[in-house]
Order: sequence, then structure tokens, then C-alpha cells
Amino acid sequence: MQTDSSFTFVLFGGTGDLSMRKILPALFEAHRAGGMLAESGKIFAVARHIEDRADYLEWVNGHVKPHVSKNGLDEAAWASFLERIEFVKIDLGNAEDFVLLRDAIQDLPGIRVFYLATGPSLFVPICRALASVGLNENSRIVLEKPLGYDLKSSNAINDAVGEIFAEEQIYRIDHYLGKEPVQNLLALRFGNALFEPLWRREWVESIQITIAEELGVEARGDFYDNTGALRDMVQNHLLQLLSIVAMEPPHSMDSDSVRDEKLRVLRALKPIDPRDITKVAVRGQYHSGVIRGNAVPAYATEAGVKPDSTTETFVAVKVEIENWRWAGVPFFLRTGKRLADRVAEIVVNFRAVPHSALGASALRAGANRLVIRLQPNETIRLYCLAKQPGEGMNLASVHLDLAFDQFFREGQMEAYQRLLLDVINGRLALFVRRDEQEAAWRWVEPILNEWSTSNRPPKPYASGTWGPAAASAMLAQHGTCWLEEEN
Ligand code: BG6
Repeated sequence: MQTDSSFTFVLFGGTGDLSMRKILPALFEAHRAGGMLAESGKIFAVARHIEDRADYLEWVNGHVKPHVSKNGLDEAAWASFLERIEFVKIDLGNAEDFVLLRDAIQDLPGIRVFYLATGPSLFVPICRALASVGLNENSRIVLEKPLGYDLKSSNAINDAVGEIFAEEQIYRIDHYLGKEPVQNLLALRFGNALFEPLWRREWVESIQITIAEELGVEARGDFYDNTGALRDMVQNHLLQLLSIVAMEPPHSMDSDSVRDEKLRVLRALKPIDPRDITKVAVRGQYHSGVIRGNAVPAYATEAGVKPDSTTETFVAVKVEIENWRWAGVPFFLRTGKRLADRVAEIVVNFRAVPHSALGASALRAGANRLVIRLQPNETIRLYCLAKQPGEGMNLASVHLDLAFDQFFREGQMEAYQRLLLDVINGRLALFVRRDEQEAAWRWVEPILNEWSTSNRPPKPYASGTWGPAAASAMLAQHGTCWLEEEN
């Protein structure tokens, strides 16, 4: 991908965790690859507690470099990357600081990107300050999740930002949309004639989407305790994956065609009746346990977490889509921290054959299943039935595997790298439009409300397991179970 479109990339929250682990490493990778970023493109980091560029570069060397050297660091590329970086000290309360920023960047060529890697409470003040010095023209703004705390607060932010930036200038990031296998799901569904005819209620019995993590809340206890898994993962990543799995074929891949189809799915989600919550949603919280041989503490004892916290670190929920394609097909979503494995995958369980002439072993071997694994490895696996060698007709489940790293040895890109290049190049398809975000909040809100008003605490689960037993019981009621297989 060659580009000559120049840019000025302004990174608010320049010393934050996200800048350190994801954003600056992604920009470095794009720089190192050559040809992806215009030579003249500049990065302006913004922070409050750092004095000048020399101090900032010292911070970058100390904190960012360890995250980019996994496969051996290219020192020459690193040195030339640092030359792109400028620094502006900004105290939000000081309007004069934004004048300095404007003076520093206003005559630079190309598009301006303002990346707000800050808490959502700063989104509106930063946008207003940018507008006060005229920096909202010829600009794009990137908003990190979580965007708000509920529908009301997210609307308030979107309204205020929308007074300053037009919708096509706003890039709401959900890094799951930048993951290669998610892109591949679109290719699988809409590039192959094979799957699409089967991708519907007549042939699909149920769908599972899991994002399981082994990590706990790490250093984010404070943030997480006020957020919980429903807001952190379900409202965004899981519902976005669901909308891509379930959407109708778009007429083109332009940003609004894709987002219109995703929106239709989000609007067709069957509203949850608060009286049914315990039947369709399970929330859990991790207790102490063992992960890969190491003892790990309970959530309630993590730094920043209230000892009597009722915040959920696990959610399993049954979702239904009210349209012709999916009526009656349950979608089971699940996410949690400190689970038995780190895995993100989509499982499409197909229906059994209508009549089996092949006897009991065929029934035991089960039906077809397609497993699209996003991480840790990127594979697509199709389970089929085959005859076991030898006498008689004994069937077993076997699988066809597509391992992307065997076919494509080069060109892999981290989600953030792809998404940042999309912002710089003005491609909106992989960013969440306001109406999608609203539809997702609207759907999760009955669950949020019921959980915050009920006095049922989350169900405990031991770290290193697959979450509370109630999550398995929910699927058992539908005659199915979570797919939990080895990596
Ligand atoms: C983030 C959540 O959006 O996604 C984190 O805030 C979570 O809590 C992370 O750990 C998971 O992303 P990934 O790409 O590591 O699966």
C-alpha cells in the first residue's frame, strides 16, 4: 500500500497505556514497513506531565520500545520513527496551550487526525478546545471506547462532538473490527458461493461467539470496577462481531453500505424483557484460582476494586434476531476475564441432516460446525462427518482446516495498524457509526438496569475455569453446549 497523503497525527493521552502498548507501536510498524505512511507525516504527542520533546522521546524509548521489539527491533527504522515525533505540552484547563498546538500544526500539509486516547470525560472538552482555535476544519477525530456509560451519556458525548465535527469526520474505534480474521469473515461469507446459502435459520441451529481472556483486570481495576464486562466487551466488540456474522450481503464494501447492514442487525435484536434476565443472561465474577500453574487473586482483592464490588467480569447472554434470516436461531455471546484459555472465536453450529441412513454413529458424531478462530491463532475449521476406516459404517467427526499463516506468510497487520491507516486515508468502513452505537446501547440497557437494581450478586467462578455453571446450564436448555477445545 503506497501513500503520498500527508498527515499530522495528534495523540492526546500521549503517555497513556494505550499509546504505549498499541497506538505508537502500530504507527511504528506502519513506518517500518515503508510506503504506508507519507514521508512528511508527523506525530504530535500531547501530554500534561512531560516538559518537552526530549523528555517525551526518553519516555518513548523507555516505555514504547519494549512493545515494538518482539521480533527483533530494526534500530535504524526506530531512529527515523523518532524523527517523526514532536511534542506539545497541553493542560486542558489552559486555552493558550491549544493556541500553541494550532501554531505548531496549522501550516503542515495534509489531513489532521486527532486521536483521543483519553477517558471519555475529556472528549467534549478537547473537541471544544480544538474548535476554539479552528482546528476542527480539515480534521478527523478518533474516539476510543468506552464512549459513555450508557445510552444517555453516550448520546450526550455524541451530540456535543457532533456540534463540532461532522459524522464523516468521526472515527469511533472498536479494535475488533480491525482484526484480520474479522475481515476474513466478510471474505468468507461474501466471496464464496458455498456458505451463503446455508447461512440462515433453515441450516443453522445456533451460533456462539466467545471472547475469553486469561488476564484479569491488571492495572485497570479502578476503571474496570466502574465499567464491567457488559460495557467493556459486550456492548461493543461482541455486538459488532455479531452484526458482521448476521448481516445481509452489502451491495458494496463502501463504508455506509457495510454499516447500514450492520445497523439493520443491531436494530433487529430482540429486546430483552427485564423479567427474563435470569433466563437469558448470566453474570459472574472471578474468585481466586490457578491459571497456567500460577495462583491468581480474586477480583475483589485486585487494586482499585471495591472489596464488596458487584461488577461482573464474565457475561454470557442469549441474543435473538428478529428477521427472516435468523428468527428462532439463538446467538450465544460470552466473554470473561481469568478464564481457562485466551481464545476468541465464532462457532456456527449447523443443523443435523433431516434423516440419517447411516446409523447411530452418525448421530453420535454430531452435525457440521464451522469454527472461525480470531485468536490466539487465525484459523477456519469446518467439521464434517467421515467414515472411519475398516469394517462397517462408523462415522466420526473430522475437520478441514484453513490456517492463514500457512497460506499468507507476509503482510499480517495488527488491528491498530490497519485502523490507524484507515483513519489517515479516510476509510470509515471499520469504524462504528453513531446509529450503530446507539442501537447497541439500547439493546444492552435493560440488562444494565436490571443488574444495577437487583440485589442478586454476580455468580462466583474460580479463575482458570470457563465461568459460572449457569452459563453452561443456559445452553443446556437449548440442547447445546459451549465449544471448549484445545488451542
Ligand atoms: C479492550 C477491553 O477493549 O479489549 C479490555 O477494554 C480487553 O478489557 C481487550 O482486555 C481485549 O482485546 P484483545 O484484542 O486483547 O482481545
